[in-house]
Amino acid sequence: MSAHIYLVGFMGSGKSHWGKRLAEHLGRPFFDLDEVIEAGEGLTVSTLFSSIGENGFRELERRYLHQMEHQPPSIVATGGGTPCFFDNMAWMNAQGTTVYLKISMPILHQRLVAGKGKRPLLARLDDSELLRHIETLLEQRDVFYRQATATVQRETEDDSKFWEDLTAGYEPRF
Ligand code: S3P
Repeated sequence: MSAHIYLVGFMGSGKSHWGKRLAEHLGRPFFDLDEVIEAGEGLTVSTLFSSIGENGFRELERRYLHQMEHQPPSIVATGGGTPCFFDNMAWMNAQGTTVYLKISMPILHQRLVAGKGKRPLLARLDDSELLRHIETLLEQRDVFYRQATATVQRETEDDSKFWEDLTAGYEPRF
């Protein structure tokens, strides 16, 4: 059985950025689940949302998540919604460990104002709607993110502390 480290957390929490760094640090392969889906389907996440709807996307997401089982121990950056559908969170916890990248609201908001275009759940919102939407969605999703094996919290832009926390929790285990 593989023992992946799955990074979970809201859109804009840096799962891909930190996932790549962590993978390099631990000498493991890195997968970004959205990119795996896009490569497998030959379509962007945005196009998939508009062609098969969110429900169709979630089915695909689960299917590609389960394919991770066949990979050697890796770092997997999941999509912000991955842990919140089906039994995905329990499945990931049974497969390996999950790390919740918990980022403060001001940082998330700032990043998502800039990065909402490629995210179909946010693309059409103006900046004030965006803040409300992030708050609502985060509240709904918290119950899933909280099931993570570990949480690494970030209140400021201080990268060094965050990196220390991220690696300190996991390096000794593998
Ligand atoms: C989603 C997050 C996105 C992507 C899709 C849906 C979500 O991934 O999977 O747009 O439901 O939060 P990122 O978290 O990498 O933006």
